[in-house]
Amino acid sequence: MAHKIIIDCDPGQDDAVTLFLAIASPEELDLLGITTVGGNVPLELTQRNARQMCDIAGRFDVPVYAGCSAPMHRPLQTAEMIHGETGINGIDAIDPQTPLQPQHAVDYIIDTLLAAEDNSIVLVPTGPLTNIGTAIDREPAILPKIEQIVLMGGAMREGGNRTPSAEFNILVDPEAADIVFRCGRPITQMGLDVSHQVLSTRDRVDRIKALGNPVAAATAAMLSFFDRYDTEKYTSKGAPLHDPCTVAYLIKPELFAGKLCNVSIETQSELTLGHTAVDFWYVTDRPRNTNWIHSVDADGFYDLLIERLARFGD
Ligand code: BDR
Ligand code: CA
Repeated sequence: MAHKIIIDCDPGQDDAVTLFLAIASPEELDLLGITTVGGNVPLELTQRNARQMCDIAGRFDVPVYAGCSAPMHRPLQTAEMIHGETGINGIDAIDPQTPLQPQHAVDYIIDTLLAAEDNSIVLVPTGPLTNIGTAIDREPAILPKIEQIVLMGGAMREGGNRTPSAEFNILVDPEAADIVFRCGRPITQMGLDVSHQVLSTRDRVDRIKALGNPVAAATAAMLSFFDRYDTEKYTSKGAPLHDPCTVAYLIKPELFAGKLCNVSIETQSELTLGHTAVDFWYVTDRPRNTNWIHSVDADGFYDLLIERLARFGD
């Protein structure tokens, strides 16, 4: 049976590809809704970008909601230097036809979960955890409804990408992340340790481009832009395709390997704010709250992505 999912995102080119991958995979994923949050770029742009991806994919019916514009207790930090001023540089931003739903994303998440059966909904956050942390904080009765949370954020062996010890999504709203990691529901975490293994090399982007359909063309154009900052930063042969690891895991978990660990969030230190402390070697007796994904079959990941993007030409 398909997982019922809500994708909570801040598009962002890699969030955009996550939406395409999910929309292309109805056998495995029942995409109930898309909620957006301020992150890579401000909320006015992330909600618009999510709707534009629905337009490009021809799915004008997927409900898209705007949520929190700023973290729970801090000002928003954005990432235009990576994603460009629209968040989806590489393609032209347009005024999308897919409507914005009037309800606030946090209210939508709460209402949808309260109406659902226990253990029935998978939350897929690929941006700062503000909407999810706020929903849990406001209505803890949603917790039993969550089957699991499959999120992109954090880092262990790779270190941070925004500060020496913190990954962007966790750093932007560490208090929200702390709520999520303490919530008691199963978490599968795609941090930089795994996303840095799925590089969008020229060869892979060319394979996507060669599919020749509008979604593949948009993906190739966005990834070509996304590449420039990270290839220089990491001197790698392509940018890490962080966020689609979440949805790829739900479609084909056998591509990934993980270990059940405690992950705790640093919310106090100025130096290491937003650090994800992963107890990989079980040196504490803290609860093993997270399936910490540490490796992926990168070729298998891109084969899956390309096979699914090809479906938009059918
Ligand atoms: C994460 O931060 C954003 O820049 C990406 O969209 C991804 O979710 C990687 O650190
Ligand atoms: Ca993101």
